[in-house]
Amino acid sequence: MTTSANSPHPPNKPRAAALDGESLERLQAIIVRHAESEGPLLPILHDVQAEWGMIPEAAQPIIGNALGMSRAEVYGVVSFYHDFREAPAGRHVLRLCRAEACQSMGADTLAEQVRGALGLDWHETTADGRLTLEPVFCLGLCACGPAAQMDDRLVGRATAQRVVAMAGGAR
Ligand code: FES
Repeated sequence: MTTSANSPHPPNKPRAAALDGESLERLQAIIVRHAESEGPLLPILHDVQAEWGMIPEAAQPIIGNALGMSRAEVYGVVSFYHDFREAPAGRHVLRLCRAEACQSMGADTLAEQVRGALGLDWHETTADGRLTLEPVFCLGLCACGPAAQMDDRLVGRATAQRVVAMAGGAR
């Protein structure tokens, strides 16, 4: 399993690999693209994640240096936003809505049952790299909560049985 993105010191967090020359160039291009904009950190992080599917740990101090921020400040933002990953996602991503409307319809219980059945906590990936479990804050299905999303497929009135079956069927 991989790690929790929100834990300050994840126990099995992959060590930062230095970026190779080409990756460094791609990162610099992203930074330059946003450097003059107001509040450039989030757009840079979004573009980095679009490029690598995650925010490489080695990229964080480079981004920080460019923006006059400490590595810890950049890490704080990366770990705060659920959308940013510090490890690559599995081949499939299961998202469970954690927002208010779904909570009022039993999202907490659903999440507990699904996490237990899959043996995954938030942001974790199965050891075979097949499935990642993520929280999400509103999928736009508020009237039919609790809501889930398996890859691109939205599921309203989700039950643990249905969600776990979908997750198990994804290879
Ligand atoms: S609150 Fe869950 S889909 Fe909107």
